Amino acid sequence: VAVSEVRGQDPDGRPGTERLSQRARRVGAAYAGPGSGADVPAGEDPPIGFVAGLPDPAVLPAGELTAAFAKVLATDTDPALQYGGAQGHPALREWLAVHWAAIDGAPGSAARFTLTNGAAGALANIADTFLDPGDVVVVEEFSFSGSVRTLLQATPRIETVPVDRDGLDPDALADLLDRLAAAGTPAKMLYTIPAYQNPTGATLAADRRRTVLDLCARHGTLIVEDEAYREVWFGTEPPPSLYAMAGGAGVIRIGTFSKILAPGLRLGWCQAADDVTGALVATRTDMGTSPLVQRAVARLARTGFLDAHIPRLRGHYAAKSAHVVRGLAAHCAPYATWQEPGGGFFAWLTLAAGTDPLALAEAAREEGVTYVSGNVFAAGGDAGATSFRRWGPGDSPHLRLAFSHVPDDEISEGVRRLGAALARAAGQR
Ligand SMILES: Cc1ncc(COP(=O)(O)O)c(C=O)c1O
Repeated sequence: VAVSEVRGQDPDGRPGTERLSQRARRVGAAYAGPGSGADVPAGEDPPIGFVAGLPDPAVLPAGELTAAFAKVLATDTDPALQYGGAQGHPALREWLAVHWAAIDGAPGSAARFTLTNGAAGALANIADTFLDPGDVVVVEEFSFSGSVRTLLQATPRIETVPVDRDGLDPDALADLLDRLAAAGTPAKMLYTIPAYQNPTGATLAADRRRTVLDLCARHGTLIVEDEAYREVWFGTEPPPSLYAMAGGAGVIRIGTFSKILAPGLRLGWCQAADDVTGALVATRTDMGTSPLVQRAVARLARTGFLDAHIPRLRGHYAAKSAHVVRGLAAHCAPYATWQEPGGGFFAWLTLAAGTDPLALAEAAREEGVTYVSGNVFAAGGDAGATSFRRWGPGDSPHLRLAFSHVPDDEISEGVRRLGAALARAAGQR
């Protein structure tokens, strides 16, 4: 089915689609593909799911959050329950400034931080503030599908650069930026996830970071650096951020409490130069995010809980990652390759030539294991034009295993089932 034919139709049986805006049609529906739960017949054992990039429930600090919320409600009742302003609670922004200055020397000031409805809300705010329809945004060829949807809502024009184990390819970026400039459509923005990228797990190498900064500065391309997973490193810290290397010039950094605390808080942030921050705050239409949540998190930050919790998470997810890698080596080696994750929540597999991705999807369903097909994250071409085509199993030779949310005692069995599915799919070539 050609993309032009599906535009304007009702891809998911949603009612009222004839009134949808062009933006809504372009963005399509949220993910409802394999592993979302929509395709598991009632009464069957649920599969072991390597789908959701969620924190492990075992490390969600429910007790500490309960106490923090109670304390804030008791002592800061009025400010916690009134509107809090678009930029957010100064004490939490102050903590962020100190915290990130200590991590990578980024110029620290609370005035440069804005609190948002997750990193997703930060990106939406940036898109509202800087993108017009038709502007060109460059993203990694595989990128977080939620971010791609946000960008698609602002502009239909997305271009991609390849990504390997050292992050996005700077030579390909140089070529693309030159070509776009020569065509009179210079890239307005680069959206990149340089540390433990979702979905590939890649981290942008230090020398590539310098090149990316130079290229974007030369072309006047604004960099949006998504550091959702940066603090979840295993063993070695990632190189300094693009934001820190540039002293904040030409780079907006976004981050989140979703991976280091809890996604249900819906609390993220944006760090940018003063004039950019002013523009971002001025463009907000949501009256800010919850002051109650901001103050409870500020309490967990101020009391030192977060500083102790984050290193514990590193150990926790490093152990899960090692568990998955052992399983892959034992069960999947003949049928796929992968890179050992250096941090984050994901392992990215590339199927051996000749293994049919559709046969794998079918075999995995029968074996009782789920993953997300690489085509869900393919940001360019037809896929970028509408999300409708992205959510099926597709024909991508890649797949993403999110290990963060799988209980420890299910990881081995889940990877064993994946190996069995791979063996069956390889046999059907
Ligand atoms: C790279 C990346 N950015 C942003 C987000 C969204 O995070 P938040 O919950 O802060 O909106 C995610 C969530 O999975 C992500 O993987």
